[in-house]
Amino acid sequence: MGLARHVRLIREEDTTDATTTQPAGSAPVPGGDDETPLLRLRGVSKHFGPVRALTDVDLDIPAGQVTALAGDNGAGKSVLIKCISGIHPPDAGRMWWNGEQVHVRTPGEAAARGIETVYQDLALCDNLDVVQNMFLGRERVRFGQLDQESMEHAARETLSSLAVTTVRSVRQVVASLSGGQRQSVAIAKAVLWNSRLVIMDEPTAALGVAQTAMVLDLVRRLADRGHAVLLVSHNLNDVFAVADRIAVLHLGRMVAARPTADLDRQIVVDLMTTGASTRTVQAPGTAG
Ligand SMILES: Nc1ncnc2c1ncn2[C@@H]1O[C@H](COP(=O)(O)OP(=O)(O)OP(=O)(O)O)[C@@H](O)[C@H]1O
Ligand SMILES: [Mg+2]
Repeated sequence: MGLARHVRLIREEDTTDATTTQPAGSAPVPGGDDETPLLRLRGVSKHFGPVRALTDVDLDIPAGQVTALAGDNGAGKSVLIKCISGIHPPDAGRMWWNGEQVHVRTPGEAAARGIETVYQDLALCDNLDVVQNMFLGRERVRFGQLDQESMEHAARETLSSLAVTTVRSVRQVVASLSGGQRQSVAIAKAVLWNSRLVIMDEPTAALGVAQTAMVLDLVRRLADRGHAVLLVSHNLNDVFAVADRIAVLHLGRMVAARPTADLDRQIVVDLMTTGASTRTVQAPGTAG
């Protein structure tokens, strides 16, 4: 069954009580007989006064895949990730985590479920070193003292498990790292805390070519290790290089969410700018 039709069927079943709030776990998962995505959103809406930032948004985020979230400035990408990560609880809509209906009301609740968000600028503290950043607010204590040895060991192990080899010392202050290394540390932090969904807002925006390649490589590795990744990006080169699925927001509405193979750049540009596209994907070699 095509995704669009599948979503439509769910919407039809769901419309009667899409905005009611129910206790966690009490509602059946829509389409639960299919492969259950790690995170499923249905009918998510959010407004700020008169501004309708999100209207009736549906999205499935499967484990082991990179889902790219594209959209023009102001389309609602950041608001959507803030709804998922507990910063802006949505006005309406429902969310299922691993098949169970949940309400994520605070960033702490999101973290406790394994949702970690890497914000572009706020990800790390410049004046702290790599270990301090990775354990910030969640330090290991032993006999009333910080357990530096165990934290250093865990930080090193996590970086090496992700094949991040360019960070020379985990006692380096983050201010001394390159942009790509910082993103790598922020991503490693998410892995260290067993995040099952890693959300990244424009992780390559400030990076050069080589560092972008390094971060995209890491994003791919995360998904290959079974994490779900939601990658917010304006950069269609990045999106097409790494995403398994692409979701496009236009003026707060989800206008497409399809496998990357069913889209090309021009279709995504059409969807981002007008909310629709009449094009079909060109077979390789026939694109003009
Ligand atoms: N805290 C807020 N208060 C009022 N309006 C907001 C708030 N946050 C976002 N908005 C509005 O919601 C809409 C969506 O904003 P959002 O930041 O999600 O866009 P975006 O897709 O992330 O854009 P960009 O690509 O520029 O980052 C915009 O019209 C924005 O002005
Ligand atoms: Mg944004």
